Amino acid sequence: MCFPKGFLWGGDISANQCEGGWDEGGKSPNMTDYHTGGTVNSPRMATYIMPDGTYGKTPAMIENCNLPEGAKLAINPDEFYPNHKATDFYHHYKEDIAMFAELGFKAFNMTLSWARIFPKGIKEGINPEGVEFYHNVFKECLKYGIEPLVHLYKYDMPAFYIEELGGWKNRFLIEEFVEFGKASIDEFQEVTYWSTFNEINAAQFSILDSNNQEEVQRQYQALHNQLVASAKVVKYLHDNYPDKKIGCMQAGIFTHALTCDPEDELANQREMQKNFWYAGDVFARGYYPSYAKYLWKELNIILDITEEDTKALKEGTVDFFEFSYYFSNCVTTQEATGNLNFMGKKNPYLKESDWGWAIDPKGLKFFMHEIYDRYQIPLMNCENGLGAFDTLEEDGTVHDQYRIDYMREHVKAMSEAIDEGVDLMGYTWWGCIDLVSAGTGEIRKRYGFIYVDVDDFGNGTYKRYKKDSFEYCKKVYTSNGEDID
Ligand code: BG6
Repeated sequence: MCFPKGFLWGGDISANQCEGGWDEGGKSPNMTDYHTGGTVNSPRMATYIMPDGTYGKTPAMIENCNLPEGAKLAINPDEFYPNHKATDFYHHYKEDIAMFAELGFKAFNMTLSWARIFPKGIKEGINPEGVEFYHNVFKECLKYGIEPLVHLYKYDMPAFYIEELGGWKNRFLIEEFVEFGKASIDEFQEVTYWSTFNEINAAQFSILDSNNQEEVQRQYQALHNQLVASAKVVKYLHDNYPDKKIGCMQAGIFTHALTCDPEDELANQREMQKNFWYAGDVFARGYYPSYAKYLWKELNIILDITEEDTKALKEGTVDFFEFSYYFSNCVTTQEATGNLNFMGKKNPYLKESDWGWAIDPKGLKFFMHEIYDRYQIPLMNCENGLGAFDTLEEDGTVHDQYRIDYMREHVKAMSEAIDEGVDLMGYTWWGCIDLVSAGTGEIRKRYGFIYVDVDDFGNGTYKRYKKDSFEYCKKVYTSNGEDID
């Protein structure tokens, strides 16, 4: 095992999935505060109210979408909103960070809630209570020698940006985000590692109806606006804080060709270009790749890309490349339908999680090589983990051997990739403490080394318990990845 000295072992959470305190400390509602719970079969939704007082629901990814005419995002008293309290990091952060320190964290990957910092937009000013909360969190981390790695954006924004501006499809949001980024970087001088967007490519694969031309156009424009906003913040940090580092993150949508039929290989290459490399190529290399132009033509979309945008993208390339990695999928052209399906073909060689995600540590090693070969900048594996059903026993223990096995195999894969030349700067386990699932809004889909006693409807004591994986993680992290057995 050869993890470098100073390797950033740690954990990752996001404000909207863990923090709670949705209406405390001067925070305004954000997009996910309107998300109901859900399950795999009945997805979480965003709720709104119509001028006549009736409530409605729409698919949750509203950050780039249109609400029905006249609709306002609204809390429906008949629904439960799991993110409102989440697992209550807002009130437990000291206790939680002390446990992270015990686990041997060197890094804590987290997001700022935009709605806590600028609840009413840039013009209305910064919220001192929100700022104070995050200073306190960072102080607590640094007390234990844990470096905060701070993401500015994770599927979340003050809700009024969606109602009044239509979200990311509106170019006005670029400047709002840039000002939010600059103000945060200036304010939180104690933070060394920054990141602009979490899973920036999600804007593109959250297209709900690929036959709806308007929707496809809107999502690609929204992604472009995010890429420009990201690049401008990166440049600001480089110009003003040359000792600090900044990245941007991709959702690790990684696919294998299902067969060695060259048609499958070509189809998989196209899927990887479209779902993964497209955005990464822009924020890591500073320009749209040549295949992007082909893709736009194929999709029949025309993006609004100004000269200033092109300049900004060029000047704002990242210092490190962040990615998440949970599972892999397969692509084939051989099914009866003849259609590509990047999220659906089962890999006969892999086992799956309780939620049907294919567990593929070798895929992680392969993927890391691919990314590093392409960009030659340090990589940060900032989300990896296993969502599973856990049982809290009467004596307060949780026996999660499956999570230990998952972690061991993925740490091994990373160490092999490093041995073979990949420059990996850190690894932050997703959901180091239980939180609300982003995909389904469940809490029972648990990722943590730390169990939080709360169910899908907010019932429970919110007490924290160490799972078996807690001791395992501690051993791995404190031995710098030497002891993984
Ligand atoms: C990542 C997201 O892609 O997947 C996280 O960045 C999310 O926010 C994680 O929680 C796991 O997905 P889920 O749906 O199990 O929460």
